[in-house]
Amino acid sequence: METNIQLARHGLFDARVPRYTSYPTSPHFAGNVGPDLFADWIGAIPEGGQISLYIHVPFCRRLCWFCACRTQGTSSDAPVRAYLETLKAEIEILRSRLPQGVTLERLHWGGGTPTLLAPDMMTELAEAIYSVAPLAEDGEFSVEIDPNEIDGARLDALAAAGLNRASIGVQDFDPEIQKVIGREQSYELTAEAVHAIRARGVKSLNTDILYGLPYQTPEKITESVQKLLSLAPDRVALYGYAHVPWMARRQTMIPEEALPSAEQRLGLFETAQKLFKWDGYDEIGIDHFALPSDSLSIAQKAGRLRRNFQGYTEDTSEVLVGLGASSISKFPQGYAQNASATSQHTAAIRAGGFSTKRGHRFTAEDKLRARLIEVLMCDFVVDAAEIAAERGLAKAEVEKLIAPVAAQFSDVVSYKNGRLEVPPSTRPLTRVIARSFDAYELSKTGHSSAV
Ligand SMILES: C[S@@+](CC[C@H](N)C(=O)[O-])C[C@H]1O[C@@H](n2cnc3c(N)ncnc32)[C@H](O)[C@@H]1O
Ligand code: SF4
Repeated sequence: METNIQLARHGLFDARVPRYTSYPTSPHFAGNVGPDLFADWIGAIPEGGQISLYIHVPFCRRLCWFCACRTQGTSSDAPVRAYLETLKAEIEILRSRLPQGVTLERLHWGGGTPTLLAPDMMTELAEAIYSVAPLAEDGEFSVEIDPNEIDGARLDALAAAGLNRASIGVQDFDPEIQKVIGREQSYELTAEAVHAIRARGVKSLNTDILYGLPYQTPEKITESVQKLLSLAPDRVALYGYAHVPWMARRQTMIPEEALPSAEQRLGLFETAQKLFKWDGYDEIGIDHFALPSDSLSIAQKAGRLRRNFQGYTEDTSEVLVGLGASSISKFPQGYAQNASATSQHTAAIRAGGFSTKRGHRFTAEDKLRARLIEVLMCDFVVDAAEIAAERGLAKAEVEKLIAPVAAQFSDVVSYKNGRLEVPPSTRPLTRVIARSFDAYELSKTGHSSAV
């Protein structure tokens, strides 16, 4: 109870705080990063280097009401095929800029629903990508899979393209909750997808579930988590449902009066958290769980956990190239985001250039603050001496940023000799604490805009 009072005092129950999958967060990107700069940054990738590649597919067959992703519904294949042609053209433009010998440490297809591509389209896309940059020997190819939108032929095509990590969306197994969030998906259908994925030798399975959904209770989330555990996923992302109907119009279908309060949300998270831990999962950062044998868990124990647009990762690539409408790329020099509207993105690619619309060039201070936020989100510890050594800075320079945050949160963190640590009892505040390292959020007036 005392902890809840402390959490409330620091604004946990009324704060809308970024998830910090990037720093600065995307609402702070500006229009001064365009196609030419993007092409320069691609050209500066070292010859023979390893990068990560993200391909965005902004289409779905169904539009789930709870979903805050930017995606468009389509019942026919025509727009998907046209989009595939755009992606292939974009990959060709990438080829003309990319230095020789680059390989992929990671390839991820996300969306939207990349599994709505027909099997021949998946094969075409994979061939186009690998003809420009093949998967590295120990490279990882992962795809977001909607169990409603997958079958044997599509899984065969993905397996032939080297799929070795699958991520499937579950959200919740309770039929009443599924109905009100507009995403019906039986346990049997999900289990069938899991078995079909594993039958193709895919060695790692990730699942997404949500807490904070309408009508969710501790009993209901217990039942959903137990069902999920029966499928033995290697990793679980337990995300808090973000209700942002002003950004995602279809969420107006969600009955707001049935949403749990902020304190109830915390209770739901803690109920699920206990179940995963009892079942032997390691807790990773603020919202992930992984079997001790999983590479994420191994990376966390070795202090190699990182955070990028896909959440927690052990990916160490300096460069993440994002292709497709609205995709964000990350370079040592900064972030670059493609045009969000599929039509605008397509027009730019068809005209022979990249569609980069906005982004951010890093300053030295951005890089330092980004690292402070990343280590806090990954390890719950920010150590001035370690960060200073890593970045070739004086310890005092780093301490100068940490000390005021430690003072602001003195009742919920420990701080000694430049080392700030968030104990397990107050970790729900981690994003709120991270925001205190965010110069852009702090310089704004009013509420933060991201979720
Ligand atoms: C692109 S979707 C998943 C891929 C696939 N289309 C599917 O539905 O299975 C990625 C994930 O974002 C998460 N997500 C979407 N909307 C959300 C929201 N409003 N709050 C929190 N998480 C959300 C869900 O857990 C979802 O599985
Ligand atoms: S949850 Fe998946 S299938 Fe549903 S709308 Fe979002 S991206 Fe599409």
